[in-house]
Amino acid sequence: MQDRLMVALDVDDREKAMLMRDRVGDSVGWLKVGLRLFVAEGPELVRELNRTHKLFLDLKFHDIPNTVAQAIESAGGLGVDMVNVHAGGGEEMLAAAANAAKAFPNMKLIAVTVLTSDPMPKAQAREVALQRAKMALDAGLDGVVCSVHEAQAIKDLCGEDFITVTPGIRWGGQDVQDQKRVADPASAIANGSDYLVVGRPILHAENPAQAAQEAVAMMQSAA
Ligand code: C5P
Repeated sequence: MQDRLMVALDVDDREKAMLMRDRVGDSVGWLKVGLRLFVAEGPELVRELNRTHKLFLDLKFHDIPNTVAQAIESAGGLGVDMVNVHAGGGEEMLAAAANAAKAFPNMKLIAVTVLTSDPMPKAQAREVALQRAKMALDAGLDGVVCSVHEAQAIKDLCGEDFITVTPGIRWGGQDVQDQKRVADPASAIANGSDYLVVGRPILHAENPAQAAQEAVAMMQSAA
């Protein structure tokens, strides 16, 4: 189950990222590098983190098809295990990204459907998320980032092999902070999530490895 747990390294420099990497150790299989850390530290740190853990480069590319395809090639050249684009970029952009990713068969390409911060009403967000997941499947992508609440419906629509990556994970009365729709690790697994993204509950824990192990134990209880 630790191979299905991703820690969001939402820190601002190399030192903090390496420290957290060492503190979680092998209690998690994946590290996620987002915009903040990538803009601050760049590809060298990504390569370094990728030596000990699988790496999800979460930069949510959204641009004209050619530019996105080139960015996917650069991500593939870095050797990361997963990268994402924003499905809002449309069919042509998704297809160009999927085509570029073919050269890197070990790298999963996934799409963000609707950002959790998007102000659209919930029912509409769900409908748009399902529609964009289907568009990503048809364009040849491997999966999507979605909330736990949509993961099973996306599996039903797009098939069991279509990957679901779910942030918004909280347990044991943790502060939900800015996440609107949260779920605990057991219900994430029970509701069709393949990979769980956890940031602050691990980053801010007194003992990050122990927090990760707690999440893994809950995931196991649902498997
Ligand atoms: O700290 P927390 O567990 O809320 O972190 C969740 C992580 O997942 C953050 O890195 C955030 O950027 C990312 N994410 C998200 N919602 C999305 C897409 C990504 O929370 N829809």
